[in-house]
Amino acid sequence: MPVNKFMNPVFSNSIEEWYRLNGRDLPWRHTQDPYAVWVSEIILQQTRVAQGMDYFNRFLSRFPTVEELAAANEEEVLLMWQGLGYYSRARNLHKAAKQIVEMGGFPKTFEEVMKLSGVGEYTAAAICSICFGLPCAVLDGNVFRVLSRYFGIDTPIDTPLGKRTFRSMADEMLDTLQPALYNQAIMDFGAMVCTPKSPQCADCPLVETCVAFACGNVTLLPVKARKTKVRNRYLTYLLLTDAKDRIYLQRRGEGDIWQGLYEPFCHESDAPLTAAEATTLMPELQPVKNVCGLTHQLTHQLLHADAYLMRVGGSVSHLPGVWVERKRLQDYAMPRLVLLLIEKIMAL
Ligand code: ADE
Repeated sequence: MPVNKFMNPVFSNSIEEWYRLNGRDLPWRHTQDPYAVWVSEIILQQTRVAQGMDYFNRFLSRFPTVEELAAANEEEVLLMWQGLGYYSRARNLHKAAKQIVEMGGFPKTFEEVMKLSGVGEYTAAAICSICFGLPCAVLDGNVFRVLSRYFGIDTPIDTPLGKRTFRSMADEMLDTLQPALYNQAIMDFGAMVCTPKSPQCADCPLVETCVAFACGNVTLLPVKARKTKVRNRYLTYLLLTDAKDRIYLQRRGEGDIWQGLYEPFCHESDAPLTAAEATTLMPELQPVKNVCGLTHQLTHQLLHADAYLMRVGGSVSHLPGVWVERKRLQDYAMPRLVLLLIEKIMAL
């Protein structure tokens, strides 16, 4: 029985009505194919809609079905993901595609969908509501923000109590008759009206009953207990080129954000290396150019990168990687930061 609709029709009706008029027309909203919706939800976890759209279209043209994704090799999957960041998403998609083929098709219950590699509660709820009409409420950053403001709840969202509180509120507010519509409506509403920094309260259909608006603390909510700890990582690259103008690349090993991606010779440290220290990494070579001080901010890491271009006379046979012609560089999936370093140093 749709008790929630009865208990709080104002909230869900207003949001759904707003969505009918203002919701975004996105490519994955024209399908209920769980494979396409799953790919879109994984892309959108850490990527903005505007950037994600191109990647979604390219990914689906190259891998139109889960069988084709499962049959691909990991390097090609990573190449399709190049520039999107958070590459474990791509590795997990690939792994889960193989799981799905083994299961004999896309799973159809929340519990089964949750078993897929890289799929958590949020993604499972999104897929199950959008594709199968199951009454699963999504709880992502948008939903935390909208609910905490509308009901004026300052319980920190990153504590067990906060998670329980918001989970039961999200479940209670869900329009169980139209879960696909409601879930996408509340997420779009959070992304477009009830935004983190400059919420559009003047245009908000819920402004008259919003507790945070009445109290004047809209931008103070939601509350987080812990600040995200950020680890500094210092990457020193030696960009080795040989007499044939080829560039040395090696694949990054396991247990890293960039696992499986290519990069030049790399030394990592907890503190920055001076130019003199960088030179001692390969004492037989001398740097001819360098680019220093590029940074890349991730959720839990701040990466600092320096690069030194070094010309190799003969061959360096003890290195495990590959020597790649410049015009073939695009065949190798590399982190954006690394591409930028190579471009900069080559342009000097
Ligand atoms: N963000 C992530 N997935 C979304 C969806 N399906 N609708 C709106 N915003 C989203």
